[in-house]
Amino acid sequence: MKSGPIGIFDSGYGGLTILTHLRDRLPEYDFLYLGDNARTPYGNRSFEVVYQFTAQAVRTLFAQGCPLVILACNTASAKALRTIQQIDLPKIDPQRRVLGIIRPTVESLGTLTVTRHVGILATGGTIRSLSYPLEIKKLFPDIVVTGEACPMWVPLVENGEAQSDGADYFIRQRIDALLAKDEQIDTIILGCTHYPLLYDKIRRYTPEHIRLVRQGDYVADSLADYLSRHPEMDALLTRGATTRYLTTESTDTFRASAAVFLPGIPIHPRHISLTEGDPEDNA
Ligand code: DGL
Repeated sequence: MKSGPIGIFDSGYGGLTILTHLRDRLPEYDFLYLGDNARTPYGNRSFEVVYQFTAQAVRTLFAQGCPLVILACNTASAKALRTIQQIDLPKIDPQRRVLGIIRPTVESLGTLTVTRHVGILATGGTIRSLSYPLEIKKLFPDIVVTGEACPMWVPLVENGEAQSDGADYFIRQRIDALLAKDEQIDTIILGCTHYPLLYDKIRRYTPEHIRLVRQGDYVADSLADYLSRHPEMDALLTRGATTRYLTTESTDTFRASAAVFLPGIPIHPRHISLTEGDPEDNA
């Protein structure tokens, strides 16, 4: 296999909050970001559709030369990762790898909660998949997990309304609903990569003693650890310190919106279709 960049996939802009941490942690590597902005949000889509869209994205990133793809999207990690790892990868290319972001987040929990009561704020798809409670049960069976779906939060971010006054209503509503279900929660996982963009407002409406967990650092540490344990994969990753961007939407829209996530960083996205013909045709 030829060497290439680390592929980062999200339904839209949320994965950029993970990319930032990966670049800080692994600055010498090349990254190729793919946002399926034309079909975002994935949060309320069925298992089959999220799997189909995510599998298309992974195949596209492979065709663009990525030996390793990170699903920087909880919804895709919850609904598509296992099938892609177990069914698709052995057929496509057993040497390539696809990693998710739920497990690294869950691994961090052991030392974060004192009351052993944890809340999850995420998309409807992630909450309904029960991926977080199931993963947490495997590692920390004593932790009580309560989830709350926040269907309006991703649309607020994708539509540039993260800082608007109107966003406050929806944010407070979901935090209050979560805490009404379990008053002992002392740690809340922001289980959607879009949510760091709403962080200031989430912090404002969350009691001070509750810790908010953003995923970026944990995912970055976990990837660095993975590469140190898998030198055969590490050797396949190019190191030119570059980042390129692909979007399924208009490149002008992507450039303007991504600038909110990555202030001061020049972004020159390229349009790509995940559905028409061979992904290499678009290279
Ligand atoms: N950013 C994605 C996540 O982490 C979800 C966004 C969506 O609903 O498409 O779950």
